[in-house]
Parts: sequence; C-alpha cells; structure tokens
Amino acid sequence: MTTTDQRRLGEAPDPATLDPAERLSVDELRAQQLERLRWSLRHAYDNVPHHRRAFDAAGVHPDDCRELGDLARFPTTSKADLRENYPFGMFAVPKEQVRRVHASSGTTGRPTVVGYTARDVATWAAVMARSIRGAGGRPGDTLHNAYGYGLFTGGLGAHYGAEALGCTVVPVSGGMTPRQVQLITDFAPRIVMVTPTYMLTVLDEFEKQGLDPRESSLEIGIFGAEPWTEQMRREMEERAGIHAVDIYGLSEVMGPGVAQECVETKDGLHVWEDHFYPEVIDPVTGEVLPDGEEGELVFTSLTKEAMPVVRYRTRDLTRLLPGTARPGMRRMQKVTGRTDDMIILRGVNLFPTQIEEVVLRTPGLSPHFALELVTRGRMDHLVVRVEARPDCPAERRPGAAADVEQGVRDTVGSGVEVLVVDPETLPRSMGKLQRMTDSRDRG
Ligand code: DLL
Repeated sequence: MTTTDQRRLGEAPDPATLDPAERLSVDELRAQQLERLRWSLRHAYDNVPHHRRAFDAAGVHPDDCRELGDLARFPTTSKADLRENYPFGMFAVPKEQVRRVHASSGTTGRPTVVGYTARDVATWAAVMARSIRGAGGRPGDTLHNAYGYGLFTGGLGAHYGAEALGCTVVPVSGGMTPRQVQLITDFAPRIVMVTPTYMLTVLDEFEKQGLDPRESSLEIGIFGAEPWTEQMRREMEERAGIHAVDIYGLSEVMGPGVAQECVETKDGLHVWEDHFYPEVIDPVTGEVLPDGEEGELVFTSLTKEAMPVVRYRTRDLTRLLPGTARPGMRRMQKVTGRTDDMIILRGVNLFPTQIEEVVLRTPGLSPHFALELVTRGRMDHLVVRVEARPDCPAERRPGAAADVEQGVRDTVGSGVEVLVVDPETLPRSMGKLQRMTDSRDRG
C-alpha cells in the first residue's frame, strides 16, 4: 500500500455508519451511564454475595449512587477477589443462563474465570464490531484473526465482532508462522488482528520467505493484549505498509473491545463508555484522580449480566483524556505498563515499554528484546538482550549496545547492561510475550 492510500484510509467514517452511542454528546452519555450504573450496582448487590458483603462492609448501598461521582464511595474489586470466588462465585445469574466462560491462567494460582449470558455475548460482539470499524474495517473486508482461540478472550472476541460487522473471518489463531504468511498471501485479507509481538514474528517470516510484506493485501493491523509503543507503531507501519492501531481490553471486564484507537486520529483509545465506566485512581491510596492524571485504570461494567464488575482494578497505568474522533467518549492514553510489570531498579521505576522506545530508535537493532533481572554482589541489575537486525554489521554491535545504555540512562535515569545478540536467538511468542525473567538471588 502506498502512502497516499494510507492517508485516504485515515479519513473519518461516514457518521451515519456509527452506532447511536458513538454519536451521543457528553451530557447524553453521562445520563445514560448513571441510569445503567445504578442498575449494575443493584444487580451486583442483589445477586453476588461477594459484592453484597463488600458493599455492606464499606457501609454503602446501591441506592447511595445518585450521581456518577458517588461511585468513588464503593469498594474496588481485585483479581484476588475473583480467585477467591473460583470458579463461578462472581456470577450474578443462574448457571443455565451462562452461554460461555473464558479464563485467564495468570502466572500463579487459580485461573480467573469470567462468564457471559447470550446478551453479554451480543454486547461484546457489538463493541468489537464498533472497534474494528473504528480501526477502519468495513463490512465485506476479509480479516485474518491470529489472536489465540480458546479460553483466552482474544480469538473468539475478535471473531464474533468481525462477523457482526460483516467481515469474512479467517480464524487462524496463533502459531504455525509459515502458514500465517501463506494464508495472508493466498486469502488476501485487508485486516490482521494479532498481538504486536507476534506480528513482528510474522513480518520476519515474510522476509525469510523472500516476500515483501508491503506488497501484501494488508492495510490495517489491530494490535493489543500487551503494551506497545509509538516507536513500535512506526516500525510496523513502515515494514508492513499498514495502519497500526491499538485495541485494549481485559477478560474480567469483557475481553478485547473495551477501548479502541480510531484510525483517523491514532491518538489513544476511545473507551466504549456506554458499557464500561472508567476511573483512574492513585494505585497506592486508591483516591480517584482527575482526568488527565496518570494512575491505575479501574472499570465498572454498566450492562453486563453474567458477571458484573464493580470498580475492577486493572493494574494498567494510563490517563483519561477528552474524546476526539468520537467526541462523546473519553480516550485512554496508550497503556504504559502494568503495576506488576514495573521494575524497581535501585530505587528507580522502569517499564519494559521505556526500553522498547530506546531499542527501536537505535540503528542496527531489531525490535526483539528480552529482560532479565539478576543479582550481582548485593545489587540488582537489569540485563537487556537485543537481537541485531540481520543486516547490522558486527562492528556496529558494541556501539548499538552503548547507545541503548546511554538512552536508558537519559530517559529513565537508571543504568542497565545491554547485550546485542544474534538474530533469531531470543524466544518468540505466539500471543502475549513474556519479556521479563527474574533471576535475582532471593537469599
Ligand atoms: O488481553 C484481551 C485482549 C485480547 C485485548 C486481544 C486486546 C486484544 P487478558 O488476557 O485478560 O485480556 O489480559 C488483559 O492485557 O489488563 C493489560 O495489562 C493487557 N492489555 C490488553 N490490551 C492492551 C493494550 C486480553 N492495547 C491485560 N495495551 C490488560 C497494553 C494491554 N496492554
């Protein structure tokens, strides 16, 4: 795709094709949210013992919610609450009404289980269809879906949304990378949905097969399920000749399609606020922060039947901004990282996305990198292993490593050790990439 085509694609859609909710004014939306919020709190209180106990302990009742700001008085919900109520204790409807469950394994302990009624499945498909349209997708497009199918919400969530929009879905799931390239070449999809790190692997495979991904039929990539940076957007747009847009979501709240970046602005993700009410809180004190300030994103579901969530703490760090492409709906800035992924290195906070920014602007280096925390002496050190690009001359490597070390020192204020390694030597993922290993001596 040429740059001119890319520009044309970036035009705003015909407003007549938007959902009525996407055209609401802020005032209209707030009125709808309040009504739905009151229903949702009542539904959670009446039907989920955990929420009833938590509300009672905090001395609040659903009737205390008279305006949206009153939500701040209600208790938050955490992943631990879901685990303690494993498997179905957070469900608010009889089991017979649950049409589907999904689960995330997490890294430790019991999985978190979530459930959907038939209406929830339909709502999810509708917000996902809205997301794909926001990304520039249209009915009739072919969509290559490389998000994992199964208990992970990515595959089926994207699938139902694409069908609801009227796309032809190719349900590939993750893995078998040579076949991904073959199907993109033969089926000529306009859209690809996949994690950004797996997209990099697919692009490498194109090049390994002697194919130029810019010559493929792809015009749009809808990337999410893990944090990625503006530098990564540029890398993928240039290498693949596509528009790269961000999609956000989490299983506890619904799955993919909670928030979506619009292709015409690429300026953060519009939260589909008619279904998911966002707040940003101070992760330490729990205090609600004003829009524009960075903190932990918290969601309350407004319409979900099977598993309402009340002030669910996502652990994702972002800020809320006013709407642009959809003026009624607030945006969330691209997620910087999760509170759990924050590395505290000798007192300095650091996120993997900050390393990604520096690596990607360093000539000679590929976007493939891995992080390892180690102990030397009594100090923690962060070792960054980055693959050289295949065309990077050997004599460039030490300079590239020094550039990354300097770049991290300048932006984060922390010293790291950088090793430039051979291409194709670091682990790849078929979905979310686990970048970090902790090899610190705990003795
Ligand atoms: O990752 C849902 C999803 C699938 C979203 C496909 C987008 C595309 P979970 O497995 O429950 O659900 O993981 C949710 O992933 O709390 C974030 O930490 C992270 N995450 C999801 N989307 C983004 C994004 C799916 N666009 C967790 N940017 C969330 C940064 C993201 N992090």
